[in-house]
Amino acid sequence: MNERRLETVEMRGITKRFPGVLANDDVQFDVRAGEIHALLGENGAGKSTLMKILYGLYRQNEGDILINGTAVPLKSPQEAIEHGIGMIHQHFMLVDTFTVAENVALGMGQGKFRLDLQTVSERIKALSDTYNLEVEPTALVRDLAVGQQQRVEIIKALVYGADLLILDEPTAVLTPQEVDNLFEILRKMAAQGHSLIFISHKLHEIIDLTDRVTVLRDGRSIGTVETADVTKEDLANMMVGREVSFARHRVETEEAAVRLELANINLANQYGIPVLQDVSFAVRGGEILGVAGISGNGQRELAEVIAGLQRPDSGTISMEGDDVTSARPVEMTAAGLSYIPEERMHDGTVGTFTCAENLILQDHVREPFSKRRFLNFKRIADHADKMIAQFNVKTPSRDTLIKSLSGGNIQKLILARELDRKPRVLVAAQPTRGVDIGAIEYIHEQLLAYRAEGLATLLFSEDLDEIMGLSDRIMVMFDGRVMGILESAEATPEKLGLMMAGSTLS
Ligand SMILES: Nc1ncnc2c1ncn2[C@@H]1O[C@H](COP(=O)(O)OP(=O)(O)OP(=O)(O)O)[C@@H](O)[C@H]1O
Ligand SMILES: [Mg+2]
Repeated sequence: MNERRLETVEMRGITKRFPGVLANDDVQFDVRAGEIHALLGENGAGKSTLMKILYGLYRQNEGDILINGTAVPLKSPQEAIEHGIGMIHQHFMLVDTFTVAENVALGMGQGKFRLDLQTVSERIKALSDTYNLEVEPTALVRDLAVGQQQRVEIIKALVYGADLLILDEPTAVLTPQEVDNLFEILRKMAAQGHSLIFISHKLHEIIDLTDRVTVLRDGRSIGTVETADVTKEDLANMMVGREVSFARHRVETEEAAVRLELANINLANQYGIPVLQDVSFAVRGGEILGVAGISGNGQRELAEVIAGLQRPDSGTISMEGDDVTSARPVEMTAAGLSYIPEERMHDGTVGTFTCAENLILQDHVREPFSKRRFLNFKRIADHADKMIAQFNVKTPSRDTLIKSLSGGNIQKLILARELDRKPRVLVAAQPTRGVDIGAIEYIHEQLLAYRAEGLATLLFSEDLDEIMGLSDRIMVMFDGRVMGILESAEATPEKLGLMMAGSTLS
């Protein structure tokens, strides 16, 4: 195994400018050997940018990176890797149709290593055993669950000799079980002297896992604290600069008419395996029906069937009494459905369009944005400015391409668009994933405000606190089936957990 080359890493006075944005402003940050260091900050605070500089993907305008006390220019990821710095991106960079070993070998360049799969496989096995990664070198990547693919990325970084590993929101894509598993691995790595930089919006994860926390706000470093000395509330205040409330207030609503109803919905996937089995439920106006479940138990398919993206094999879907079972997405929108998809970069936005354009996707053909087939640019611009201000979207302007916004800000923009349409029914899949706590507070308030005005909401979330805090009733899915629907008042994490694992309560 490689010698440890990396004892301290320090980023000193880092400044990074993008057109119209000061992404990092004189940032100080340092990591020690064997520590897990959290990087915390609101959406757009500059976390990913700072880490991309450390990994050699971006070049800072000012400031130095010191490795073991010596300033080194890191001009490419290759150079970062040579200094023992690795990074795991949120979107994995693996080739689906290759095995684990082939994927690891692929990144090794031209050297003699390249085709020596035997050696690579042995290294993978050894590392897998040391860190309990449970990765099989001969497995095909496309057969692996998300959590396993992430572990392949970790192995890759370790094989390349990473002493410092940067993880940018690694838990955003994981189930709670996979998160526990990842944390065990990271603790083991730290115990062996590796340094880890961990980015997450979930404060309880930071409290759980890390030794120190550095907080960024608006591109500046607010400070670094020992995790043991702070509470969740302290961290929230540091990052947002004001008190953040974790309590949600749900007002009583009148029992209203059913707006969305599914009856005996069945769906099989491309291999003929049932993914939705006899799903029936109804959502009333003024109600939030939470959908809990471990990811992969039919939630995504359920959302897509309602949104018109997939057609069920049997069963019916109706909205306010009208049969919409075979309606297409545009027809569902016209019928009053808003949909916040889980995969927003894919399904929710067009990356090469501006913020303003993304804010009127699907709506551009209707008034007030167009009249007699002419787009009304003034209206579109005013609307964009209003949405950006209201939802506190951090962007240099409405004409900025959406792909250059930070992840959480893209999310806020989609939410703004979908809620502003004044829907009758809202299907929201993981609406606060990747979003900072200030924005979560705002999104939750919005969902509750629309509920109070009579909106029927189907809320998919893997965050049980979120589900329990917002829902009137909670439906649990397992293996494509509805395991039961509980009144929120009678739901506990234990009951929900049991149902999520496949047992029926009653
Ligand atoms: N390639 C780029 N081109 C232009 N602007 C960018 C680019 N990358 C980031 N930015 C801008 O820099 C700022 C910081 O973005 P960054 O992605 O570092 O935030 P973040 O803290 O990682 O946020 P999030 O929690 O949402 O991921 C944002 O205003 C963003 O729009
Ligand atoms: Mg980021």
